[in-house]
Amino acid sequence: MTGRPSLRAVSDLHVGHRGNAHVIDDIRPVHPGDWLIVAGDVAEKTDHVVGALERLADRFERVIWVPGNHELWIASDDDGITSTTKYDRLVDACRSIGVDTPEDPYPLWTGPGGPAWVVPMFLLYDYSWTRSPGQSRASALAGARERRVVASDEFLIDPAPYPDAAAWCAARLVATTTRLAALDPAHPTVLVNHWPLLRAPTEVLRHPDFALWCGTDQTADWHRRYRATASVYGHLHIPRTTVHDSVRFEEVSLGYPREWAARGRPDPLARQILPVPDHPQVRWIRDRDGLPRIARPGEDGPDLEEER
Ligand SMILES: [Fe+2]
Ligand SMILES: [Fe+2]
Repeated sequence: MTGRPSLRAVSDLHVGHRGNAHVIDDIRPVHPGDWLIVAGDVAEKTDHVVGALERLADRFERVIWVPGNHELWIASDDDGITSTTKYDRLVDACRSIGVDTPEDPYPLWTGPGGPAWVVPMFLLYDYSWTRSPGQSRASALAGARERRVVASDEFLIDPAPYPDAAAWCAARLVATTTRLAALDPAHPTVLVNHWPLLRAPTEVLRHPDFALWCGTDQTADWHRRYRATASVYGHLHIPRTTVHDSVRFEEVSLGYPREWAARGRPDPLARQILPVPDHPQVRWIRDRDGLPRIARPGEDGPDLEEER
């Protein structure tokens, strides 16, 4: 190992899928001082999530986790617990293995590219990213159902005691803004959330209705309001870097085996967040058949991002 320590990030490892079962073997620090952000969707089963995080915590100096929607899914062998209880239990389990969660004090990265607050957040979504502007949530959800685009979250997340995910999201937004406002403004932030803070990255979704389950209008100015030097997210399974208001947004997912088998996977999987990398770490190109694919390190080809 050589060089300088870095703050790195990955998400959507989905280790419960057979083709991703060994992916943790491929995520290793480049320097012994590296920190790793794990931005949700590690797995559905608690023991899979904690087992994967424990292995990563053995390797990285610090591991910071936020939940994705898959961590909140309830299965028949979950003994009737709600998703809110499952989240609380995951937080307890993370603490017992030394992994930071959205409920812990925000750590300050003081390595190269720092100092910067690393802010793990759990914000969920509130169905505000409707297909047409100003559309009511009820009509947007009805339209999505008609077009048979309904996220599994609707059946597998139990938000009780909140009446629905939007109410849980509202509570999370209030609690998180309170903590963000109290942070020392001398330092910028790395804002980490499974769901993107901005709607713009969802504009390339194959099914526009799916944006209903991807975030909330309420965070549209958070990258500016809370001095973000980078915003880290996953969930879309579209790994790439975009820039909004001069702030770098990093989608750091791996995705399902069938997805990355077709389009390639980022190398390295754990993307560098700080110090700011010299160039975007995931580059999309078109293959010979005109299909979008992630370029291998050093590979030439027209940059697809410029077409978007
Ligand atoms: Fe995912
Ligand atoms: Fe997700």
